[in-house]
Amino acid sequence: MSFILALDQGTSSSRSIVFDDSGRIVAQAQREFTQHFPQPGWVEHDPLELWQSQLATAREALAKARLQSADMKAIGITNQRETTLVWNRRTGQPVYNAIVWQDRRAEPLCAELREQGHAQAVQAATGLIIDAYFSGTKIRWILDNVAGARAAAERGELAFGTVDSWLLWQLTGGRVHATDVSNAARTMLFNVRENRWDESLLDLLKIPASLLPEVHPSSHLFGETDAALLGASLPVGGMAGDQQSALFGQACFKAGMAKNTYGTGCFMLMHTGARFQVSGNGLITTSAAQARVDASAAWVPEFALEGSVFIGGAVVQWLRDGLQAISASSEVQGLAESVPDAGGVMFVPAFTGLGAPYWNAEARGAIVGLTRGSTVAHIARAALESIAFQSAALLQAMSRDAVAAGGHPVTELRVDGGACVNDLLMQFQADLLGIPVLRPQVIETTALGAAYLAGLSCGVWRTLDELSSQWKAERVFHPTLPRERAEELMTRWERAVRQAVAA
Ligand code: G3P
Repeated sequence: MSFILALDQGTSSSRSIVFDDSGRIVAQAQREFTQHFPQPGWVEHDPLELWQSQLATAREALAKARLQSADMKAIGITNQRETTLVWNRRTGQPVYNAIVWQDRRAEPLCAELREQGHAQAVQAATGLIIDAYFSGTKIRWILDNVAGARAAAERGELAFGTVDSWLLWQLTGGRVHATDVSNAARTMLFNVRENRWDESLLDLLKIPASLLPEVHPSSHLFGETDAALLGASLPVGGMAGDQQSALFGQACFKAGMAKNTYGTGCFMLMHTGARFQVSGNGLITTSAAQARVDASAAWVPEFALEGSVFIGGAVVQWLRDGLQAISASSEVQGLAESVPDAGGVMFVPAFTGLGAPYWNAEARGAIVGLTRGSTVAHIARAALESIAFQSAALLQAMSRDAVAAGGHPVTELRVDGGACVNDLLMQFQADLLGIPVLRPQVIETTALGAAYLAGLSCGVWRTLDELSSQWKAERVFHPTLPRERAEELMTRWERAVRQAVAA
């Protein structure tokens, strides 16, 4: 039996999971780390704390599995995307904290770029809309605001990386500075159609090319770890941004296959094969994790359409901490199930505006449809349902894009992430969508995707078909609601969204 160590460096915790070659979890470990909010709208992580917490969980997971490093065939890395680090190549010291994907400080620069009319060119090359979410304008902020950074970058002394690159650099003792396409695609500096850094975007953002990591397919022998770290030197055989890694871990390898991850927010991705498609419905285009199983064939870029919901499971935290309707998140299903439906209540959790497909930064939360008979249970149920409504709006947008490109509407949705264990939510999701919702046996698909990518480059698996046959549903939620009723509910949801936008 072969084993793979997957490192999953997320926004709120670092995790490590040991998988066996049937894709089963052998052991796992997790550590939270500090979130820094130096100013309103700013979010930072300490790069050394990211690395040390990650390393600690790797050691812990190996110990729990009662395995040695030498028993591992390879390491796979998956990570919170867009989060931006710049460090000194010689000393390895970061010049600034990691600027987290949620950080909005680069918005004024983005507004300037939009006003100057760069949106179309940026989208044509990168598939992205101009937004402070992506790494490019965060790098620019560091170069413009950290004393000496620009001059050092121009002398070639600094390195930029997303979290994958930073971990790889640390794991290889500073010998390898590289990333994969799925992470590079989130920088707003990478031409996803040609899989190369885009010189005109580097010029536009005044970012020296010497800062950038080398880009490889997601399944690739990126380097060998420093033996002193984990007790043996191991190949890092795969890296991918967490959402593309989850798409891979869900074995969504073909055009039209989609997954939704239910976390604090929700991230829905649909594979579009080798087709670069700009969404007509408010989604972004991104590189999918790329395995390049046949290394002798030309490297063909692969893509996905992506939409995100800002407040997914976080609405349950609000019920707990803001409304104080429950004392633990796990109580939400019981409370919501104590009523047969939401009693006409609609909850639009636009606490920080609305993401795809609405893109309205000004919208604010709204609870509508209240009557004298409404109770906190109806509000809890409406809160849970809001996760499904927002996800349904994304899936409808994806299906419209798929049809516009001559394909078919999405026929099933694979789900993962913490909140997918909630049966009530999954059933309601299937009812709204009118297609089956499939929950896999292994819901840690983000880490599993990284393990698959690493295992493919190290000979644990050879083909994508092998991985597809490992994917098994633990439960399938079939739609039971008549379509007219589901459509009526979606119409009421869209009406409630308009009220939130006007709020
Ligand atoms: O794009 C941001 C995403 O990669 C963050 O994912 O799971 O760390 O919140 P997560």
